[in-house]
Amino acid sequence: MIDLTTRYLGFTLRSPIVASSSPATGDPALWERLENAGAGAIVLPSLFEEQIEHEAFTIDATLDAGTNSFGEALSYLPEYDDYDTGPFRHLTLVEQARNRLTIPVIASLNGTTTGGWVRYAHHLVDAGAQAIELNLYDVVVDPMHSAADVERRYLELVQAVRAEIKVPLAVKLSPWFTALGNFVRGLEQAGADGVVLFNRLYQPDIDLATLDVTPRLHLSTSSESRLPLHWIGILRGNTTCSLAGTTGVHDGSDALKLLLAGADVAMTASALLRHAPERIGVILEWIRDWMIERDYDSIEQLKGSVSRGNVADPAVYERANYYQMLQSWPHH
Ligand SMILES: Cc1cc2nc3c(=O)[nH]c(=O)nc-3n(C[C@H](O)[C@H](O)[C@H](O)COP(=O)(O)O)c2cc1C
Repeated sequence: MIDLTTRYLGFTLRSPIVASSSPATGDPALWERLENAGAGAIVLPSLFEEQIEHEAFTIDATLDAGTNSFGEALSYLPEYDDYDTGPFRHLTLVEQARNRLTIPVIASLNGTTTGGWVRYAHHLVDAGAQAIELNLYDVVVDPMHSAADVERRYLELVQAVRAEIKVPLAVKLSPWFTALGNFVRGLEQAGADGVVLFNRLYQPDIDLATLDVTPRLHLSTSSESRLPLHWIGILRGNTTCSLAGTTGVHDGSDALKLLLAGADVAMTASALLRHAPERIGVILEWIRDWMIERDYDSIEQLKGSVSRGNVADPAVYERANYYQMLQSWPHH
């Protein structure tokens, strides 16, 4: 009997494959398919700071007035003309997901600065979210802002969200930190229970016919999973936070490598959009077969066994490996 359960954010999940925040988790028609395919948890699409700041003031006041329960708030919201705004619809989505699914429902907040919008962390929990994933996606364009300033702002935001909720809090990061290990220590102190590595950055393109800068969203490929693999391998053993790997998880081998490096879960979005929710079943079947072949009984047994702290030569995760690799070209 192969035990696929994994501990993540204090939950015992039935499998280490989590449906990452994307349109695949925002479509109620796909929820049962994700659960039936074996997802350990689901992260709903993000509710954005911008969405809340621009649309939600009335609802926010309503949700705060006289009730701590989202269900009760629902019953008197129709008195308000503009209840059908993005943030309200989002709370409804969370409530529906929680009612329909047995696996944990993680709600996602996406923003970069502290402010009134942060109260939505507890509105999401009132609506049924069992954990919050805070996505710190940012593009710091102002050269007057130092890395230290930016990191301080992020940590203040994490503290502010932490103060709103009692459920577990994960923080989703972009890959570009000078000293990621140190920043993750800061996140722990600010109250984060997990880190999700990494955001896949929106990278604009230039249309050579029109010279317009064009937004482009490509789905990922497997090779992109090596960036989260590298940092998860380094962080495992150096943090008390749960670790989630996201980007480039398309098949069983991508997910398994992240787990071996030290991830508690592997999250997947592009593969679900490219194939179907049932892709999760294909990934899990592959992992199960690999474990049987190698005599592993449980995910816990293999998690982190190839992390930097557990390999014979930790230099494979370090600069030394880069130097050796360049020297050995083209012999490998
Ligand atoms: C169409 C699309 C929408 C996404 N929306 C969100 C979102 O709302 N919040 C979020 O944190 N991540 C969002 N993501 C990022 C995914 O959760 C994931 O981290 C990223 O796509 C990398 O994983 P993948 O290689 O499996 O796609 C989105 C990705 C895609 C492709």
